[in-house]
Amino acid sequence: MLQRTEIKDALQSKQIGQPINVRGWVRSRRGNKNVSFIALNDGSTIKTIQIVVDLEKFPEEQLKPVTTGACISATGILVESQGSGQAVEIQLTELVVYGTADVDQYPLQKKGLSMEYLRTIAHLRPRTNTFGAVFRIRHHMAMAIHTYFHEHGYFYFHTPLITASDCEGAGQMFQVTTKNLYNLKKTEDGKIDYSDDFFGKQTSLTVSGQLEGELGATALGKIYTFGPTFRAENSNTPRHLAEFWMIEPEVAFMDIDELMALEEDFIKFCVKWALDNCMDDLEFLNQYVDKGLIERLRSVIASDFVHLPYTEGIRILQEAIQNGHKFEFPCEWGDDLASEHERYLVEEHFKRPVIMTNYPKAIKAFYMKIDEQESGYNGKSGQTVQGTDVLFPQIGEIIGGSVREESYDKLMAEIEARHIPMKDMTWYLDTRKYGSCPHAGFGLGFERLMLFVTGMQNIRDVIPFPRTPKTAEF
Ligand code: 4AD
Ligand code: MG
Repeated sequence: MLQRTEIKDALQSKQIGQPINVRGWVRSRRGNKNVSFIALNDGSTIKTIQIVVDLEKFPEEQLKPVTTGACISATGILVESQGSGQAVEIQLTELVVYGTADVDQYPLQKKGLSMEYLRTIAHLRPRTNTFGAVFRIRHHMAMAIHTYFHEHGYFYFHTPLITASDCEGAGQMFQVTTKNLYNLKKTEDGKIDYSDDFFGKQTSLTVSGQLEGELGATALGKIYTFGPTFRAENSNTPRHLAEFWMIEPEVAFMDIDELMALEEDFIKFCVKWALDNCMDDLEFLNQYVDKGLIERLRSVIASDFVHLPYTEGIRILQEAIQNGHKFEFPCEWGDDLASEHERYLVEEHFKRPVIMTNYPKAIKAFYMKIDEQESGYNGKSGQTVQGTDVLFPQIGEIIGGSVREESYDKLMAEIEARHIPMKDMTWYLDTRKYGSCPHAGFGLGFERLMLFVTGMQNIRDVIPFPRTPKTAEF
């Protein structure tokens, strides 16, 4: 048998008149009593190649198993296409059917299936045009991220997935244990005794690689992580997963202005990478999923992100309320902004991405650097921190980052005020004890970036096998 040519290469081939072999899954078959046309896809591109079958050479009986979803090998002669839409097609000379797909049973026979239904068959949905496009783009985004950091001199630093510390302090951790849950050993005061557990103490899946990332940055200078992250937050929203991927760069000697510049430059690089490398897939998504997609991607690259202190953001939101705008949730100084507030600022007020800074200390994590300057609220200082959330159209928060508190005493004071168990944090505090340095970093939710780049509406549809409350299928 001839060596296989991938369909993306076959469609570009200039070897007219030469034999060629392609293999893939049948998207459709149509025709008349003389000729049959098979649209074949192998995942290398969103496009299909047309296989033209002369029914005098291939009786209908032999073509019967070639239905939507069947897997075949097609050998033939590459010819210039008669029809419009493609440059070349293949005139079939030899057919092998690898696997049939029963017309009455194969779930992807029908067109126009809903996203909700496709989620129930996530094991097959990569074979649809939409999910093929999404997962090819997902690959390219991962390559963009590694390329960006590698080219800028960052080291890819692998942080653990199993940990005994809670980076975000939000108590959203999945426990990791080998203990017999039916017969839990308790201490005298009724607490679970972890001393005989696998790690000899209570451990969980990480909610962020940042703390260990800081250990890397304060030695190697510039690092990034890119790995799975777990949060047991019971948020059934189109923006939350229980298992998602996060990218976390951490940089020694970086201040807040440099941090914001990095956030903006990095995200624009990724979006531009999609436009440069994924146009076929983006054009499909632009046509069938979100008509404003490509324009939105271009506009983000072209616009300067707004730098907006939290206090100023609250003022704008309250002004909007006074002018009659209705929000579901309150937004007084000190409140955490809801997605509706973030989207108002980005989509209606500024009409471009916003980096919000200088948040109230109380709504942010313990490690953020406390602002020395006036917070602009009640005239008191020391109430805000150098956090930077990047807010995006359609998405809301896509990045959360900050300058880190480098002062041992100030950090200790926060840890004590928040009752963070110290025994698990000594290794982290050593970075502030020995050669402490100013540093900063951020976390980008990979699936939030994917939502933006694909125009998909639900985060469950940009990761192959989503994990959300009450679902861990596949
Ligand atoms: O804002 P977060 O909680 O920040 C951190 O975890 C920091 N330790 C990051 C750092 O500074 N190194 O999370 C960072 C980003 C969010 O902006 C969001 O994009 C994404 O992670 N994210 C989620 N994505 C999907 N599902 C969830 N449940 C998410 N929670 C956060
Ligand atoms: Mg956040």
